[in-house]
Formats: sequence, structure tokens, C-alpha cells
Amino acid sequence: MPIIAPSLLASNFLALGSECKMLNESEADWFHLDVMDGIFVPNISFGLPVIEQIRTATSKICDVHLMIERPGEYAEAFKKAGADILTVHYEACPHLHRNLQQIKSLEMKAGVALNPHTPVQFLEDVLDDIDLVCIMSVNPGFGGQSFIPHTIDKIRQLKKMIKDRGLHTLIEIDGGVTLTNAKAILNAGADVLVAGNTVFKSENPTATIAALKAL
Ligand code: DX5
Ligand code: ZN
Repeated sequence: MPIIAPSLLASNFLALGSECKMLNESEADWFHLDVMDGIFVPNISFGLPVIEQIRTATSKICDVHLMIERPGEYAEAFKKAGADILTVHYEACPHLHRNLQQIKSLEMKAGVALNPHTPVQFLEDVLDDIDLVCIMSVNPGFGGQSFIPHTIDKIRQLKKMIKDRGLHTLIEIDGGVTLTNAKAILNAGADVLVAGNTVFKSENPTATIAALKAL
């Protein structure tokens, strides 16, 4: 069964408490939390104080996706705020190996996100150190964009790399996931589905999460 990680970027921030309650009572596995700095991506979302509050509202896994420059300077703060998984962008990390070791030394799972133009092969030399690869299926910065079809090939290629090496790295897909394309994404080898608009803008988010989980 896939891991379902609703992205709270698409939630109602005025009702964050009840959105968290809804996710807690749903079949959602993780809370996907998108942090944007307005520099690495052309948008600003939320940061540490919001994540700290969300942490008090759930015991589910907090999957923090950092779309920020210099993530190493903030890793400890995100650990303190309650992150269980900390994902940094390949494109923001000239010293990626160091970033991954830092995240693991802080006792978080270490994730690496790849922009749509970044080949999965760029992770060859560091794959053993990664717990999760987040393949971006849209250009990061905004929810509600359309899924880029080439992502399916990237999932297949990465799955093969992981299998060939005998690793257990999770593959997460982030951006434009819908009830229509999710099956193909899972068939290609994805383990984790991030879904923002598909969940929170649906008539019945709990049922949508259950439908994704049942795929
Ligand atoms: C995009 C974020 C995504 C986003 C997904 O930069 O990383 O997590 O919230 O939203 P949807 O599912 O609406 O594309
Ligand atoms: Zn994300």
C-alpha cells in the first residue's frame, strides 16, 4: 500500500487545527510540510513556528520539504520544531553529502528532492546515504500545477538504481498527483504520494485520502 502524505500547503490555514484533526483521523500516513524561502523558489510559504504548532497536533510523521537555500543552517531548528524527515534540494546543496550526514546525526531521516530537470543519475554516488528521494513532478514553489509526464520515466530509472544496489530508499512523488494519475505513478515504482490540492480541495478529503490509499 502506498504511503499517503497530504501537503498542508493546500489546507485552510485559518482552520489548521481542524485540518490536522481531519488528517489524524484519516488514513493519511504523513504530514507533508512545504517550506519555501522566496529565494530558492519564487514563493514564500510557512516556517518553523507553524511546524512547531503542527507538531503538537499530530503524532503522525512530519515530512518536511525544504525549498530553501542553505538548508544546513536550519537543520537543527527543524529537528527542534518536530521534523521526522528532512528533505533538502539537490540544487540547493553543493555539499549534499555533508547535509545528509548532518540530518542523520540529528536523528532525522534524510531526504533529497530533485527538480524536474535534474537527472536521478546525479544521486548515484550518494544514494546509500539517502532515506527518501522526492522526485518533483512540478517545478517547486506552488501547489495546484499539472503533473509533468516525464516524471514516470524518472521513477522507473530510480527504482532500478535502488533495486540494483539492494537499498530500501523510498521514492516520493510531489506535485500534480491526482486520483487519475496516481496508479501509473505507483506502477512505475513510487512509494509515497504527496497530494495537496487533490486532497484539500476535494469535497471529502478523508474519502480522497482513503481512495489514494486503496490504489
Ligand atoms: C510544490 C510543493 C508540493 C505541493 C503539491 O512546490 O512541494 O508539495 O504542495 O501540491 P499539489 O499536490 O497541489 O500539486
Ligand atoms: Zn512538497
